[in-house]
Amino acid sequence: MKTNRRHFIKQITAGGIGLGFIPGLHAEGSISDKFEVLSKGTGRKQYFNMCGYRAPKLDIVRVGFIGIGNRGYSNLNQMTFLDGVQIKAVCDIVQFRIDNVQQLLVKQGLPEAQVYTGSEDAWRRVCENPDIDLISIAVPRGPLHARISVYAMECGKHVAVEVPAIATVDEAWEVVETSEKTKKHCYMMENCCYDFFELLTLNMARQGFLGDIIHADAAYIHHQSIYEKTKDNNMWRLEESRRHNGNLYPTHGLGPVCQVMDINRGDKLDYMTSMSSNDFMLGKKVSELAKDDLFYKKYDTGSYRGNINTSIIRTEKGRTIMLQHDITSPRVYSRIHMISGANGAAQKYPLPARISLGSQWLDDEEMKKVNDRYMPEIVKRIGDMAQKVGGHGGMDFLMTWRLIDCLRNGLPMDIDVYDAAAWSVIIPLSEKSVSNRSKPVEIPDFTRGAWRTNKPVDLSLTEGNTTTVRRS
Ligand SMILES: NC(=O)c1ccc[n+]([C@@H]2O[C@H](COP(=O)([O-])OP(=O)(O)OC[C@H]3O[C@@H](n4cnc5c(N)ncnc54)[C@H](O)[C@@H]3O)[C@@H](O)[C@H]2O)c1
Repeated sequence: MKTNRRHFIKQITAGGIGLGFIPGLHAEGSISDKFEVLSKGTGRKQYFNMCGYRAPKLDIVRVGFIGIGNRGYSNLNQMTFLDGVQIKAVCDIVQFRIDNVQQLLVKQGLPEAQVYTGSEDAWRRVCENPDIDLISIAVPRGPLHARISVYAMECGKHVAVEVPAIATVDEAWEVVETSEKTKKHCYMMENCCYDFFELLTLNMARQGFLGDIIHADAAYIHHQSIYEKTKDNNMWRLEESRRHNGNLYPTHGLGPVCQVMDINRGDKLDYMTSMSSNDFMLGKKVSELAKDDLFYKKYDTGSYRGNINTSIIRTEKGRTIMLQHDITSPRVYSRIHMISGANGAAQKYPLPARISLGSQWLDDEEMKKVNDRYMPEIVKRIGDMAQKVGGHGGMDFLMTWRLIDCLRNGLPMDIDVYDAAAWSVIIPLSEKSVSNRSKPVEIPDFTRGAWRTNKPVDLSLTEGNTTTVRRS
């Protein structure tokens, strides 16, 4: 305890640097090194390194939205608060979704958007529109995320795609290589990376408070009734649970801990093993519903994914991550977010979030000191506004503000195409491991060796920070 207390006092009183790149943390390599490295076993060569890439600045970011259901509507609403954004076009196959968005724009005193609808591939015409800079994608996950992302980048657009960015290993490579060839960003909208405690722990890890990071527990535990009919009877979540058995939604838990571990930027995910329980709930529930409602007959197949999936990942530098997925059990919401370091640990769930430097949690007074000392600048500057706007407690607004500010100021993306691929590829790889009695599977190095010299995410706000709020 005495050593821990000394560590606490030393850390809390030390003059610190912001949430950014720590010189010397990762050895610099020459640019040519990066391009010559071939990924182990894949024989693939990096065309261009998109990590740290600064695209030409965009004074105004003109956005086209594809898929404006729950998430697309919310993402669009966040952008109506910002200067330097024009909502140019919207695309959906369901008319009431389009009406909702146009009403929102009118209510906010903004011009109505151009509408693309009428067919399953109307999205192609949005991507081809020369007056658009950024395509925001929030259609149901599956093959459409990668298909639209690739086409949009080929049409010269940056992409902001909902989680998960890809559904198969081949899609992951295609998205990565297209981003490199076109030099267009493929940003994955992993909003949990912008939640306040996740940003706090990222900053604490960077500044050495937690010591060497050894292990993290992460999860998506969210009790959902995915068998309930939606407004448009689109049961894609139920369908997904029928077709796939693994971790179907890894990025909310994994993204923030990968940033803490500098994955793709100093370390990389190496291999994983995954195990699923049987299904004890979904099949039974759907069978019950099918007795009284013909609508459910086609879903009453009796085979659904296991209710709880647990994966373990090892990184190249020998750290470990436990990652869980459970959306059926009657459990309290949790992404766990437990980071274990040589000097201390942080754990977000069950709330309240806490920090320990030994066998006891820090008390309220000590937690306040940690918050004051380590809460990053982005939260200090934009946090109040973000909480006012809402969207998962403010993290959605922080993410949207940051995405637009990076594009307007030509800054590198906090979440680049390699992160999008590595965090999302857990879906097909967990499925593969589960179907092979949990045999380990290699996680591809999408950076093809560049992880050794790529710099960690820099959220210090020493650059940019010019995007203002047009309404509050
Ligand atoms: N980041 C988060 O917190 C978060 C939360 C929920 C969902 N998501 C992700 O967002 C995505 C969308 O989820 P959602 O809850 O908004 O689903 P949703 O079903 O509410 O919305 C999807 C929309 O896409 C439209 N659509 C379907 N096919 C289309 C096509 N071919 N062309 C144009 N539009 C099409 C649908 O009509 C619907 O309006 C998913 O990938 C999901 O994983 C992320």
